[in-house]
Amino acid sequence: MKYEVKDIKLAPEGRRMIEWAERHMPVLMTVRRELSKTRDLEGLVVGAALHVEAKTAALVRALMAAGARVAITSCNPLSTRDEVAAALAEDGANVYAWRGESEAEYYANLGRVLRNKPNVLIDDGADLISLAHTKYPELIPLIRGASEETTTGVNRLRAMATGGTLRFPVIAVNDSPTKRLFDNRFGTAESTLQAIMGITNILIAGKNVVVVGYGFVGRGISSRAKGMGAIVTVVESDAVKALEAVMDGFRVMPMADAARVGDIFITATGNLNVIRREHMRLMHDGAILCNAGHFNVEIDLKGLSELAVKRHRMLDDIEEFQLKDGRRLYLLAEGRLVNLAGRRSLGHPIEIMDMSFSLQALSVEYLAKHGRELENRVYDVPNEIDRKVAELKLRSLKVELEKLRPEQVRYLKSWRLGT
Ligand SMILES: NC(=O)c1ccc[n+]([C@@H]2O[C@H](COP(=O)([O-])OP(=O)(O)OC[C@H]3O[C@@H](n4cnc5c(N)ncnc54)[C@H](O)[C@@H]3O)[C@@H](O)[C@H]2O)c1
Repeated sequence: MKYEVKDIKLAPEGRRMIEWAERHMPVLMTVRRELSKTRDLEGLVVGAALHVEAKTAALVRALMAAGARVAITSCNPLSTRDEVAAALAEDGANVYAWRGESEAEYYANLGRVLRNKPNVLIDDGADLISLAHTKYPELIPLIRGASEETTTGVNRLRAMATGGTLRFPVIAVNDSPTKRLFDNRFGTAESTLQAIMGITNILIAGKNVVVVGYGFVGRGISSRAKGMGAIVTVVESDAVKALEAVMDGFRVMPMADAARVGDIFITATGNLNVIRREHMRLMHDGAILCNAGHFNVEIDLKGLSELAVKRHRMLDDIEEFQLKDGRRLYLLAEGRLVNLAGRRSLGHPIEIMDMSFSLQALSVEYLAKHGRELENRVYDVPNEIDRKVAELKLRSLKVELEKLRPEQVRYLKSWRLGT
């Protein structure tokens, strides 16, 4: 089957959503124009596991304009926009995605993408790459390389490379400055708070917000929540990052203490069980729990359901858990990444994904051309790609750089005293 989506008749609405996104992605549209002239991806199949929503559709359409055939599924069972999936299928992509996939359907759809025999993979979380290695080893010789979108995926792929099991090169798009400084920080911050507000309709100002993890994502969320008037507490396990949080003006404490103060808890660590039942026991009535990390493992969901004597779905993306003593805790979007998995979540702002997906498109082009020359390890995004995306973005914003004078270039490279 060429596609499996919720309802192909949703395509016109999806098309409008994609058109709106593309109008705000000047960098990706420039890359698309260039790629459609060179047709560097002619005859290649790109297999992707990404959140199937409007910005992703703009990337898929750019790859198709470059000559690729694209097979795509979602990297999260709840993040697909069915309208967009339908429009992409009409555009000729092989789409296997719908919102609310079961776990079995999620893995089956990853398999369907791989059965299209892709030459380049784009992954977000590394499930597609992992499945290619474990269940479809016979397809690996066809794969020139893959690019990975998020921190959790890059961590997994580094573990594969270290263990000697990675069988094709991977470009860590996540780690590129043009991605991580903006997407992880500003993009996740804005979209996470938007999602919490959209789902709950509660006020952020004056709330005690506990952010767990002060990496790129946690830093962004903390700063934006503070900007909206929240009293932010940070929980961090790394000494340098904890110190940074202190000097950025946040209270820093272990989870066992933060559990008592939070009205809203947001996890952003990429780690397992960072909020556990011993913390939930300390939380006050009405506390809200949500996750911005990649997988739904940061909040101990099993612990939460075992602590509860009663649970029920209050609203679309809010589940209430009543504890023995009558306290109620609220879990948003099933503990999945709240900025994409909620029905009202919009994902990152379009202008942010303009950069991230331009990096992806150019990395795919790079892998198509050079993948065969690379070793089976995790590579940074080539510097020229990073620079190109930053320069195109600045140009689209009509921001000009200061140009160094020749003596300034010389001075910066000299070491002699008095030069
Ligand atoms: N929701 C989104 O749209 C989105 C976007 C980008 C990244 N992500 C995901 O968010 C997660 C974090 O990404 P990042 O780029 O900020 O990673 P990062 O490595 O920069 O930061 C993670 C931080 O969490 C800390 N940490 C780990 N375990 C902890 C624990 N038990 N308690 C407290 N702190 C702990 C680490 O010390 C680190 O500082 C990843 O899963 C990533 O894939 C999500």
